[in-house]
Amino acid sequence: IERTFSIIKPDAVRRNLIGQIIAKFEENGLRPIALKKIHMTREQAEGFYAVHKERPFFGELVEQMIASPVVVQVLEGEGAILKNREIMGATNPENAAEGTIRKLFALSVGENSVHGSDAPETAAQEIKFFFSDDELVG
Ligand code: GTP
Ligand code: MG
Repeated sequence: IERTFSIIKPDAVRRNLIGQIIAKFEENGLRPIALKKIHMTREQAEGFYAVHKERPFFGELVEQMIASPVVVQVLEGEGAILKNREIMGATNPENAAEGTIRKLFALSVGENSVHGSDAPETAAQEIKFFFSDDELVG
């Protein structure tokens, strides 16, 4: 059974959407096995998004991620990585399919409400970035 890493981003937490977003995951067969609310430090946000550090939007992305608290989660289920990406919808909400989290809730490509790992290697890496093994309660 597969595990993936998810962030409910500041724009969504600020608008009190934690429950509605977790409901989408649960309705689609993903089970939260670890979750916590944190206020990311600049160092954490820069480290987490290090792959994007040469991109023009990096500074804005980091500022948005540290502006207010987030919820970090590990989701477990059959094909969890791909399933989570489907539930999230396209990065830019203008391109997101009906019923997806980003179509329903995202404000813009930057404030797009959720993050989800894109592959098994990044999922493992991102889970380790925020959780220790004893926090994963399957
Ligand atoms: P994540 O699940 O967040 O990784 O989204 P993604 O894989 O769909 O997108 P990608 O990894 O390409 O980009 C990471 C994040 O950077 C996105 O979720 C956006 O919030 C942000 N981002 C991407 N492109 C832009 C952009 O053109 N402008 C701004 N402001 N942010 C962007
Ligand atoms: Mg990505």
